[in-house]
This record gives sequence, structure tokens and C-alpha cells, in this order.
Amino acid sequence: MGLFIKNGMLVTSEKTFSADILIENGKISRIEKPGTVSVLPDKVIDALGMLVFPGGIDPHVHMHLPTPAGFSSDDFLSGSRAALFGGTTTLIDFVTPHKGENLCKALEKRKAEAENCFTDYAFHVSPVEWRPSLPEEIRACIKSGTSSFKVYMAYKDSIGLEDEALQKVFQVVAEAGGMVTAHCELGDEIENLRNDFVKNGRTTPEYHPLSRPARLEADAIKKALGFARQADCPFYIVHVSAAASLVPIRQAQKRGSQRVFAESCPHYLLLDDSRYQGNFQQTAPFVLSPPLRKKADNRALWEALADGTIQSMGTDHCPFTMEQKRNGLHDFRKIANGAGSVEHRLTLLYTYGVLQNRISLNRFVELTSTQPAKIFGLYPKKGTLLPGSDADIVIWNPEKEQIISTSSHHMHCDTDIYDGFKIKGAPEYVIARGKIAIERDNWTGSLSSGRFLKRKI
Ligand code: URP
Ligand code: ZN
Ligand code: ZN
Repeated sequence: MGLFIKNGMLVTSEKTFSADILIENGKISRIEKPGTVSVLPDKVIDALGMLVFPGGIDPHVHMHLPTPAGFSSDDFLSGSRAALFGGTTTLIDFVTPHKGENLCKALEKRKAEAENCFTDYAFHVSPVEWRPSLPEEIRACIKSGTSSFKVYMAYKDSIGLEDEALQKVFQVVAEAGGMVTAHCELGDEIENLRNDFVKNGRTTPEYHPLSRPARLEADAIKKALGFARQADCPFYIVHVSAAASLVPIRQAQKRGSQRVFAESCPHYLLLDDSRYQGNFQQTAPFVLSPPLRKKADNRALWEALADGTIQSMGTDHCPFTMEQKRNGLHDFRKIANGAGSVEHRLTLLYTYGVLQNRISLNRFVELTSTQPAKIFGLYPKKGTLLPGSDADIVIWNPEKEQIISTSSHHMHCDTDIYDGFKIKGAPEYVIARGKIAIERDNWTGSLSSGRFLKRKI
């Protein structure tokens, strides 16, 4: 009868306690004091000395993302498998329609692309232009269970929106009962800077961060917060990278009159702009947007994680091979933009956050699972350990030590921006929908495809 996890130390966003867990039919059926459940399970895992977390939820990934340099190098199959190796059991990806394409049709197409995803999954839908039919399309997406909409203030030559369109999207999404999420960087100013650098022969990756300064992120956030406030729209700011950006976010959160959430990613906590010094091979893997900032920004973001200004940790997983990066060998604007880390989110945050006393164990669970679930309408099905919740569970070995390496990671990419990083603490077992997906570094092969998750914010 089911799967039984005994003797584990359970960690939720609220408490840490020892208990046994019984899993039946893909769900947690019982959580009881150790030794009090008498059942004859099909399989027992003895989790003595282990921590037991709810499965990770990565609210920001780009699998199989079409770009001028080709698709991002992880598809849903390889990317979700890598996610599971790292303890992430739910992914939220994106629908980026073509101009003129109906949002719901694009959502259906994207669902078909994700059919072989091993984890459960959901999407944020991106309006890439304003058109009169958009309010109806947004309402239809929400009705069918997708209630978060991502807008881009950067990338003005392709998917970025002008201010007027942004304001309309905030208004319509608010009226329809959804949430707007945004990539906040002032696109026109960035385009000017990028073009000026290239015109003057400054074409190497070194100029990528210089063309996207932190103030353009902070100003974009300020502007978008104003639009969200005007429309009274719940607002989630993706991949916050800079200390300056925390100022308007904190102001808005302090005012208390609007729902404002902020996300950051491990690379903005652990890497800095010194990575853009070197030759193309060394620096191009770090070309991602917003760019890596200063060490002082790293420190400010850690503080913001601890004090609650930032509620959610995503990865912005968007890997490209070196060959794809080489698309921009002579022009940094053409370097495939992004990097992969879906596999490393939990181990990095545990090692450099929990073990270095920057965040508590409960805050770690809150940032990597509970808050993404709550913010995006998946809680308590996901994001916690409760009877009735999906049995997405990570059994974590706090003693396991590893060194991140391109040669051993499971992401489909020939570089890794964390190559050489030491980590301590890693999944021993990863359970998704009640099935053991990973057992001591091995893919068990017992997992079938995940499910599309309908959500209501
Ligand atoms: O560099 C990045 N982040 N690429 C993916 C697209 C985005 O901006 O999220
Ligand atoms: Zn972005
Ligand atoms: Zn992204």
C-alpha cells in the first residue's frame, strides 16, 4: 500500500518537525508522529538523517525557446529531467505567441510542446502587442486555468511593449482577475546604448552589461509599479538583479496598497560582472539579461531575500550551447541571451544561503517552493507537505558534497555558469506525483509525463 517515508525531518515554510509520511495514489495521505503509522507499504524509504522538503517549484524557465540563434538547448524533456535531478518537481514556463497569434491558440500549441515534460507544468502567457481582441483572449486564458501574463519592457525590436500597451495590459488583466509579471528594463534606452557601442567598434561581451545598466532596471520597475498601481493589478517582477531596484519595490510594498512580489535568481546572488572580463569563450556563457551586476548588488539581494522584499526564487533557465553563443562572436547583441541553472537552484541556495546563515531552512523552502505555489495559485496542491497535497517530495542529504561541472550536469548544454562551484547538500530521492524519479543520483525511469496545471491567482 503506497510509499512510506519514515524517520525524516520535515521542513515546510513554517516549521521543522520529525514525522513519517504515507503516500498513496500520487498524494500525501498521512503525516504522523514517527512510529505511529502501521501499514504494509509497497516500499519504505528510511530518511533518518535526511531533511524532507516539498518539491521545488521553479516559476521562471524557458524550455525550447525560439530565438534567432535557434531554440534554447533544453527542451521540456531534457530540462524537466535536469530539474528533477536538482529537486525541482514543478516548472512554470512561458507562452510567447507570434504577433497576431491568438493567446489561447498559442497556449494550446505550447501545451503540446510540453507533452513530454516529466514534471508538472504551467505557463505565463505573453501579450507581445496590443490589439482590440486582447481583453477577450486574456479572459479566455484565465477561464481555461492560466492566469499570469508576462510582459517585456526590454527586447523592443521583437516582443517588448510600448508604455501605452503595457498600461492597457495591466488594466485588462486586473479586471479579468489575473496577475502581470514583467521583465523590467527600459528597452529604448538599452537599444540606443547597444547600438552606440557596436557603432563604435565595441562588440565584445564586455559591453553587454555596460549597455544594460542597473538604473535602467530600477527605472523600469518604478514605471511598471506605477502602471500596476493605477490599474490595481497584482504584480510580480521577474529576475530582479540590482540593489537600486529594491528601493522602489520596498516603497511599494511598504505603502501596502498594492500586491507586489519580486523574484531573483541564483546568478544575481552568486555571480558578478567580473565574468565579462576575458575572451569570448570565457565570457559569452554569462551573457544573459539583465546582466550580472556588482558584488554589492549580490549582497543587497541576499539581504532582500532574508527580509522578505524578494519572495520567490526562479532560475530564468534558458541555456544555449557555445555554438549558439558564437552567433554573436563579432557583435554582442547577437549572442544567444540566457544561461541554464534549473538543476542547481536548490543546491546553490542551500549551500550559499542556508549553510552560510543568510537565510533559514524554512525560508529556503518558502523561496523555492511555498511562495511560488502561493503567488501563482498552486497552493496547497503544491508547495507544502500536507495530507491531500501532491506527493512532490525531496529527501535531502545535508552531508552530500559535490562540485558542479558541465561534464556531470544533466542540462543539455556544453557550458555551465557554475562550473567549479562547491555545493553541500543535495537530493537523495526526488519523488514526483508519488513516484520515485531520482534515487541516489540515478534516474529510475518510473516517471511518466507530467500534467498541465490549471491555476487561479
Ligand atoms: O537572458 C535571458 N534572461 N534570457 C531569457 C529571456 C528573458 O529575458 O527572460
Ligand atoms: Zn527576462
Ligand atoms: Zn526569462
